[in-house]
Amino acid sequence: MLSVKENSPVEFSPELLTKFGEIVKRYPEGKQKSALLPLLHEVQAVFGWLSPDAMDKVAYFLNIKPIEVYEVATFYTMYFLEKKGKYNLEVCRTGPCCLVGAEKIMHHIEQTLGVREGEVTPDGLFSWRGVECLAACGYGPVLQIGPEYTFYENLTEQSVDSLIETLKNKA
Ligand code: FES
Repeated sequence: MLSVKENSPVEFSPELLTKFGEIVKRYPEGKQKSALLPLLHEVQAVFGWLSPDAMDKVAYFLNIKPIEVYEVATFYTMYFLEKKGKYNLEVCRTGPCCLVGAEKIMHHIEQTLGVREGEVTPDGLFSWRGVECLAACGYGPVLQIGPEYTFYENLTEQSVDSLIETLKNKA
């Protein structure tokens, strides 16, 4: 079952729809459904998450059933079905990173931001969660921030503090 906490009507801008069109053209005629994943990435990059309304509009654009979008969006963990912070810090919590302090880093982030995993700070700027291996095992502890999926490696409590400050100033 689709699990979402709220719905929000969304409007897709002409720029976003143009991008949709360009993406769909990469696939053979009649295979427009293949563009679903990249389209969902584009929507999430704009809105920060995938609301049911946004997914319904993607389904309409691709001329497929909404359930076909929901089943993809609920399968992959990189798609968010509820609002996240503007900066969603995803910390690798797999074995090799844990051996070099990933759990300590997650605890530090929780204490510094004052929100638990999956929650959003009151200013809407930050959320965080633990994720599985980010394929940068030699540089742990490591975290990534979407939608560009920028990596921050060899984390320490100090480097996390400095990253959070930088992001606050940027926002
Ligand atoms: Fe952390 Fe692979 S175990 S990046």
